[in-house]
Formats: sequence, C-alpha cells, structure tokens
Amino acid sequence: MPVTFMSRVFAISDLHVDYPENMQRMLSLSDRDYVEDTLIIAGDVTDSLDKLALLLNGMLKKFNQVTFIPGNHELWVRDDQHHNSIEKLRAIRELCDTLGVHTERLKVTAGQECVWLVPLYSWYRYPEEGAESLFIAKQGEKWKPVLWLDTSFCKWHDALGQHQSAADYFLSLNSTALHAEYDAPIISFSHFLPRKELVFKTVDQALQFSHDAALIPAYPKDPLPLFNFTRVAGCRGIDSQIRRLGASVHIYGHQHRNRCRHIDGVTYVSNCVGYAREQSVLGASAEPRLVWDNGHMIEPEDSI
Ligand SMILES: [Fe+2]
Ligand SMILES: [Fe+2]
Repeated sequence: MPVTFMSRVFAISDLHVDYPENMQRMLSLSDRDYVEDTLIIAGDVTDSLDKLALLLNGMLKKFNQVTFIPGNHELWVRDDQHHNSIEKLRAIRELCDTLGVHTERLKVTAGQECVWLVPLYSWYRYPEEGAESLFIAKQGEKWKPVLWLDTSFCKWHDALGQHQSAADYFLSLNSTALHAEYDAPIISFSHFLPRKELVFKTVDQALQFSHDAALIPAYPKDPLPLFNFTRVAGCRGIDSQIRRLGASVHIYGHQHRNRCRHIDGVTYVSNCVGYAREQSVLGASAEPRLVWDNGHMIEPEDSI
C-alpha cells in the first residue's frame, strides 16, 4: 500500500517555560500527532539556556522539524556567562545548531507541495527611535524604565556596531534571507509585532487607533495605567521586510494576544501560550496552531 507523506506546519510563541505549568504543557503534547510536521517557535521560551535546550529537545522528539527565533526574554543577561545580549544571541544559535533546530530559512516539502519558512530577526523601536516605531500615545501613561524588565536585562554595550538601535541591528540580520531566491509560497515569522493594527482586539479598534495622531484613552480597569505596550511592541521595518519577501502568512508573538488577521494581502497570526494569569485576555488556545497543511495556508478570521 502506498504511503502518503503528510506534512503540516504549526506555530506557537511565548511559551515562557520558566512557569513549570507551561513547560509541562508543552512536554505533554502528543508524541504521535506531529511526527511528520514542522513547528515554528516565535520566541520567548525562556532566558535560561538549560531550559531552552530542554524545551527544544522535547519538541524535536514530537515534531519532524523545529524552527526557532529568539524573543526578548531569550536575550536577557542575568548572570556573568555572557557579556551582552548579542553574545547571548550567538550562544543560542550555536545551541540550536548543536540540537538540530533551524534558525535560518527552511523549505518544507509535502509531496508536490512546498512552503518556505523564513525567520525575520527584529526588535522593537522606541518612539524616540523614529517613525518606524509602533508607538501610539496613551492617556495617563508615565514611562519609567522600571516598568519594562528588558531595560535592566537586555545589555547591548558596544555590541550593536555601527547600528543606531537594536531594531536596526536585528533587521540587518535578515539581509541574506531577503536576497535569496524562493520557488514556493513563504511563511515568515518574527517575535515582535510588524504593524500597529495588530495591537488591537477588534478590527474597529485597529482602524480607530492605527493612524499617526491617535490617542489610546485611559480605561478604568487598566492593570498597568502607567505602562504603554506600544512603546515596546515592534517595528514597521518588519512589515517592510515581510512585503519585500512576498510572504503570504506572517507569524508573530510578544503581546500575548492571539489574533488571525488579514491586512493588505498578508495573513498575520499570533498564537501565544503566555502566562496563566492572562487566560481571560489571551484568546484562542495554547496548542500549536496549524498554519499550513499540504499546500493550504491558514484562512484569516478578520480582514482590514
Ligand atoms: Fe512573551
Ligand atoms: Fe516578548
């Protein structure tokens, strides 16, 4: 009897396995259901290299292939093992090479059908770092570095070279992928958000707040009234690269809000595990989300 080779692509991000329940949840995924499939992990697994290795090894036992891009948490430097976050990025990529986890573009084949999976390295752009920031002013916000742990734990020192910002540095890492040849549809993925519209829960809000003069109003039950996530959400330069690549689908994470939205020809998908305390706002499931099934791309839920 002929064997049909079935291959699918799943995506997940923000596993945050420092929470034991999240590690347990991932390591409890089926050992049989995904053996011919590929898993995209779009960052924020952990800042511990030991736990990252444990998680990636666990996924390699369940999936045929795993491809991974680090998030901000991976680049936290909280011990004296690494001098700065760029040195830690190199250590993470070496770890992935050793384990057999992909960190560069990867072609997935299922019979006659193929798809390219392309990681886009990125960082967020603060509002003072130029027009590509996703910043939208918020009523009552009061920015203090203590509100955002990256300001303590991400260390750049002189490691960004001639680049003016972390966003510039990371986007420059995508040059080879952007100039490569592609002979099949493309799914790209980044940890950070590529567009302002994705910050918002509904299409109406996305349209209301995504223009340059928008102001996010204060609301009574805001758990962090002084904090404005859009300062650290992402960078429009990611979207420019998605469109230069010609990707059909883009996977992202970071905000811990799950969405599937079609904007100007690209379907943007976020599927985060997040933190247990966020379950009421996270949306959807914490299982890997199917994004490509033997030639078929995911269907968007919302369109702008
Ligand atoms: Fe996260
Ligand atoms: Fe993140």
